[in-house]
Amino acid sequence: MGPGVLSPCLLLLWAWAWALPAGSVLPPELSKAEVTRMFKDFMIQFNRTYRSPAEQRRRFGIFTQSLLAARRLQETELGTGQYGVTRFSDWTDEEFRGMFRSPPPHTMRQAPQLLRKKPPPSCDWRKAGAVTAVKDQGDKCSSCWAFAAVANIESLWNIHFHQPRNLSVQEVLDCSWCGAGCEGGYVWDAFTTVLHKRGLTSEDAYPYTGRKETCHNLNVPAAYIQGFQTLPGDEVEIAAHVASKGPITVTLNSAVMKNYQNGISQPSVMSCSPDHVDHVVLLVGYGGDGQCKVMDRRYWIIKNSWGKGWGEKGYYCLHRGSNACGITTFPVTATVHRVGAPGHNVHCPPEGGAAAAESLLTACQDPCYHQDRTNWGHGPSLGDGGK
Ligand SMILES: *[C@@H]1O[C@H](CO)[C@@H](O)[C@H](O)[C@H]1NC(C)=O
Ligand SMILES: *[C@@H]1O[C@H](CO)[C@@H](O)[C@H](O)[C@H]1NC(C)=O
Repeated sequence: MGPGVLSPCLLLLWAWAWALPAGSVLPPELSKAEVTRMFKDFMIQFNRTYRSPAEQRRRFGIFTQSLLAARRLQETELGTGQYGVTRFSDWTDEEFRGMFRSPPPHTMRQAPQLLRKKPPPSCDWRKAGAVTAVKDQGDKCSSCWAFAAVANIESLWNIHFHQPRNLSVQEVLDCSWCGAGCEGGYVWDAFTTVLHKRGLTSEDAYPYTGRKETCHNLNVPAAYIQGFQTLPGDEVEIAAHVASKGPITVTLNSAVMKNYQNGISQPSVMSCSPDHVDHVVLLVGYGGDGQCKVMDRRYWIIKNSWGKGWGEKGYYCLHRGSNACGITTFPVTATVHRVGAPGHNVHCPPEGGAAAAESLLTACQDPCYHQDRTNWGHGPSLGDGGK
């Protein structure tokens, strides 16, 4: 077969790969050419190559469905959340759920210890330097439970000992007390593992590979914990705890996070059922009390484990006060304190203010941000945000 025969064939195949699969529905405001351009931009931005034209065509169809889903979320959004193209736009919902699921937590409810203290209006542990860099669990391992637990220990260790440390998620994954791994797991299992191993190694000494491997006993702990506790499923109590003790892990429904770009996400209960939690993350602060006169813009600041390129530089802002996406279902935290030392008081810095470092996100800090800037130029505009 000479090149003269091959090229038209390839050309045809090329054209076919860029054609939408039959039955694809486009978002009404977008033309076929626009959707094709968006998919090409997506492939470049997220470095996608598909193994065959058929696969590319299938992924193009899924991409289009994600655009539609993002548009529906935008139309029913109650807060300032913006939805659109993300690194998961060519994933099916099944692939997405399969990736991040953590078994639903229905065990281990302990008698919660009520603080009965009015929480300060805002708190952002990142401003105290108590939160390590956002990590990326990768696309092949449902290890959010281990990432969130380790991030919790990192922050508490930093708050109590003023030592910033990246700790080993891989050690938790490899040595899980319950035998959990890349198929999802429980955050309390991660803490139990750390208790049994009498500490956690540093990330440098035991780096993340994104696969469950043989458990190593390096016996050089970089941090340790005294125990862990379940907190009351009440957002005021949770805020009081975060402000007075430090970041905690929570389990939530990740459904809208597939398409989330930025803003304070407040999906309808239909879009984000509080009864189907599947993803574990770290609550590092909150804000928004009384700062917006017009609207309720209270929010949680959530550290995710999908890299800095996802959401608000790796963070998610979720509405506070409505049990959005089931965030109150399973709040758990490790306990870290100096052995023999009286428990000292820690203070969470308030959010916002001129002193806010530029590396911190803007939209989470300023709840009125999106009211003045509708469709502020973040990616493709899908409907009218900033309602
Ligand atoms: C893009 O993907 C290819 C193949 O998966 C990989 O070899 C390459 O390193 C990636 N490039 C970037 C910039 O991520
Ligand atoms: C932790 O890891 C990040 C990269 O993920 C790095 O930038 C940072 O310097 C590390 N911090 C410490 C204390 O080692």
